[in-house]
Amino acid sequence: MTTYTELQSTLRAQPATWLITGVAGFIGSNLLETLLKLDQQVIGLDNFATGHQRNLDEVQTLVSVEQWARFRFIRGDIRNLDDCRQACTGVEYILHQAALGSVPRSLADPIATNATNIDGFLNMLVAARDAEVKSFTYAASSSTYGDHPGLPKVEDTIGKPLSPYAVTKYVNELYADVFARCYGFKAVGLRYFNVFGPRQDPDGAYAAVIPKWTAAMIKGDALHINGDGETSRDFCFISNAVQANLLAATATAEATNQVYNVAVGGRTSLNQLFGALREALGANGIGYTAKPIYRDFRAGDVRHSQADIGKAAHLLHYAPTHDIISGIHAAMPWYIKFLSITAKPSAA
Ligand SMILES: NC(=O)c1ccc[n+]([C@@H]2O[C@H](COP(=O)([O-])OP(=O)(O)OC[C@H]3O[C@@H](n4cnc5c(N)ncnc54)[C@H](O)[C@@H]3O)[C@@H](O)[C@H]2O)c1
Repeated sequence: MTTYTELQSTLRAQPATWLITGVAGFIGSNLLETLLKLDQQVIGLDNFATGHQRNLDEVQTLVSVEQWARFRFIRGDIRNLDDCRQACTGVEYILHQAALGSVPRSLADPIATNATNIDGFLNMLVAARDAEVKSFTYAASSSTYGDHPGLPKVEDTIGKPLSPYAVTKYVNELYADVFARCYGFKAVGLRYFNVFGPRQDPDGAYAAVIPKWTAAMIKGDALHINGDGETSRDFCFISNAVQANLLAATATAEATNQVYNVAVGGRTSLNQLFGALREALGANGIGYTAKPIYRDFRAGDVRHSQADIGKAAHLLHYAPTHDIISGIHAAMPWYIKFLSITAKPSAA
């Protein structure tokens, strides 16, 4: 087992070939940026269902010409087995991120969520198995804890899923486990807990809370809190999730065919989050004086979420570099730049 710092040195010295599915999305494009900066060869697969060309364009501006030349993009769909096979050819490590995220989206259209998140996932497993990749690391989800009330969440104690999205992410774990047992396949599931950071989409009905609220505050728009604001989450800055992926992909045999929580181990209520975002914006010269508007709880949401990250720390050497506050401060310049056209000057 190596530390993340050691792993980065090893990868720089011995570049490998990686496949990132969902590469034009938030987490995928951040994985791409890190791997290219480590001089890796990267293939990316995406159908732009929720990802954007602008994310790839931004990564291009952040790496050297030589590093960008090591990236090959395939516009394709994981619901199509041939696209998956093409993408897996010659690949050593897979970081499978492509999926339709969002609990409300899955409640509105469970068939679409199922097709990408389960059929597409199975296609990727089959293509990866046949391509004899070294490992398959996939985006699982904290939603798998469902209605289990225990805190902090420990990997082997889950409840019943509360949404179609949660079902799909749990089925991913079951399939990965069965592929490990039946085909000697090496898979690792990363149960992300509310990941946030640069390039997370602030737009659309299914935007995550941090980019959505930050955008509203920068624009001076009304901001809504679902429920009483005491719903809590373990918000995880993107650098921590990237680190977990690289450690998982290259993990020892003992640490594979497992699922891991990927978070910080903290718990922040929505009311506290509102205060933290307002403070970080204020530190960047953007004031927001309006009070949040409270409305009904959202169907399918779990009430509290907080990870025990002991397993990832022990078996993967995972050591988060950012807590929620340092993550918000690291992400804020990106949001301000991205949304600057509509930003209002500080009232102060
Ligand atoms: N962001 C979080 O907090 C969080 C939490 C838990 C789990 N996850 C999981 O992490 C993964 C990445 O999430 P994200 O936040 O980056 O979301 P995202 O929507 O930004 O990225 C998902 C990417 O997958 C692509 N995609 C969707 N369907 C596809 C298909 N059929 N074929 C090819 N590409 C397809 C999208 O175009 C997009 O670029 C997802 O599997 C998501 O379920 C995310």
